[in-house]
Amino acid sequence: MIKLKSSEEIKRIKESGDILSLCFIELKKAVMEGITTKELDDIAYSFLVKKKAKPAFLGYYDYPATLCVSVNEEVIHGIPGKRKLKRGDIVGIDIGVIYNGFFSDACISLGVGDISKERQKLLKVTEESLYLAIEKAIAGNRISDISLAVYNHCVDHGYDVVRDFCGHGIGFELHEDPQVYNFRSTGPNPRLKPGTVIAIEPMVNQGTGEVLVLEDGWTVVTQDNKDSAHFEHTVAITESGPEILTRHPD
Ligand code: MF3
Ligand code: CO
Repeated sequence: MIKLKSSEEIKRIKESGDILSLCFIELKKAVMEGITTKELDDIAYSFLVKKKAKPAFLGYYDYPATLCVSVNEEVIHGIPGKRKLKRGDIVGIDIGVIYNGFFSDACISLGVGDISKERQKLLKVTEESLYLAIEKAIAGNRISDISLAVYNHCVDHGYDVVRDFCGHGIGFELHEDPQVYNFRSTGPNPRLKPGTVIAIEPMVNQGTGEVLVLEDGWTVVTQDNKDSAHFEHTVAITESGPEILTRHPD
């Protein structure tokens, strides 16, 4: 069941999303050759605590960290640890925030120093697919309009999308209905109404969209070991169009 949010509630989710996007400003400054993914996690945790917010992933099904940090062939849910970022890597940083009981969720993928043309293109196309999908987040459209915006853009550029994971409703909880697929699914395909709040999150692979979960029970990697990119925003469907709730004006 989709729990619609009032404009007051959407405002609260945006307060959570503002803290989240400010946290990205700190993390972007810190992403460089030699930093460990755990050090990035420590920066995010301290920042959220300082802002009186809470990490939404920490403790969720016993997930052990504030961030998911996924490097190169890692798709999502990389657990921060001793891995040091290297020049030329691409790194996905995913954050969930709870503020005054309201949840927001977003992810960016970045290059570490100079990255190859191929990797630049993968990041660019994946991010573009997120914004094309957000344009479809309007009342009267269906989830499939969002899904196909992601899918068509990525496939047109020779990439494949991950089918084993999807975006989701969000706001009162981290994961709510509806599921927001990145491909044409036979699952539920509700119409979007004002007050629907969703996390749209293209997960896009250079090679096959097939993935595996590592023995840590979390880290999702590409089956063919090729690169993957992930971008995500929390977006509200309003009477006046899509509103991105995880993008601070700064
Ligand atoms: N952004 C991811 C998601 O939407 C991260 C979840 S990590 C978890 O669903 F630990 F919270 F599961
Ligand atoms: Co999410």
